[in-house]
Amino acid sequence: MNPRVIDVVRSADLIIRQLLAVKPGEQVAIICDPHTEMEMAYALAGAVESIEAEYTILMMPTRQTQRKNDLTPIIEKGLAAADCMIGLTGACGAPTYSSTVKALYDAKRLRGMSMVMRTLDNFTSGGALAGYGSLYREGQRLAALWEKAGHIHVTSPAGTDLEAPIAGEKVIVECGFATEPGLEAAFSDGEVSQMPRVDQAEGIIVVDGPVAHLGQLDSPITLEVHKGRVISVKGASRQADELRWIVENIENAANIAEIGIGLNPMSRRNGDFEEEKKGRGNVHIALGDNVFYGGKVRSPVHMDMVVYAPTVRMDESLIVDRGQVISPEEIEHTGV
Ligand SMILES: [Fe+2]
Repeated sequence: MNPRVIDVVRSADLIIRQLLAVKPGEQVAIICDPHTEMEMAYALAGAVESIEAEYTILMMPTRQTQRKNDLTPIIEKGLAAADCMIGLTGACGAPTYSSTVKALYDAKRLRGMSMVMRTLDNFTSGGALAGYGSLYREGQRLAALWEKAGHIHVTSPAGTDLEAPIAGEKVIVECGFATEPGLEAAFSDGEVSQMPRVDQAEGIIVVDGPVAHLGQLDSPITLEVHKGRVISVKGASRQADELRWIVENIENAANIAEIGIGLNPMSRRNGDFEEEKKGRGNVHIALGDNVFYGGKVRSPVHMDMVVYAPTVRMDESLIVDRGQVISPEEIEHTGV
């Protein structure tokens, strides 16, 4: 047997006992697809059983681009009987971005852990090894500052220059813990994020990190944004051609859905967008569906795109300086 199973069991135990705080007698739904590395599902199921809760493993089909956010009706109905959901699909983000799941969170009938599109490597190394207690506290402090801001401005050495009003939009902390009904976290984790005001983001995004469904880029992609939507996609790579096709052909894929700041000091730069978007000081900007973030724009896709070495300002405060996260304490005290 592969000795790596030791690391898999350790992560599963952390997730079930601490991050989700599963209690005896609870029902835990583990959602997979044919791209899931099943060692994760089985280790999580074992950890659930070890505390006298009950698991059900559900297998859904591989989703193509047109249906990336759709669970199956059987899974949607089954989730009504679950206390906890763990999304382990390898080919899509449906357990995270499904509107059925969002409705169950909003009704405080479910809590969840997103591990969609993550590999066994992501499950056991890098960001998985962070100190989640301190990460969560920092996320809460950053969110408290973010909630007071009215405007966000993101720039980067590669040429990103994006602005948007944000006042009143919900700030979401995903820093590992989801212990109460209605909460959601991811694993590995470590970000604070928000939907910019719909139809109002303006500027340029130059994506130089990995992109959901497209992977690591051969060369940067430049997106022009006007009234909250991508109006042009420029780049010489095959990934630029794919992204242009998605933006032009998939409903609402042009929508600017999310701006997130990574906080995890252990996340590596390894070309995996789920690992890198949580990386401390990276920003990710997402296209497509914004329902999870409190919006009403539905799309079959939610595509995170990583931007390296960003500078982020909220109103007059410097939040990230060329990839260095300014500590919330420093911002509170100096208003830098
Ligand atoms: Fe995010």
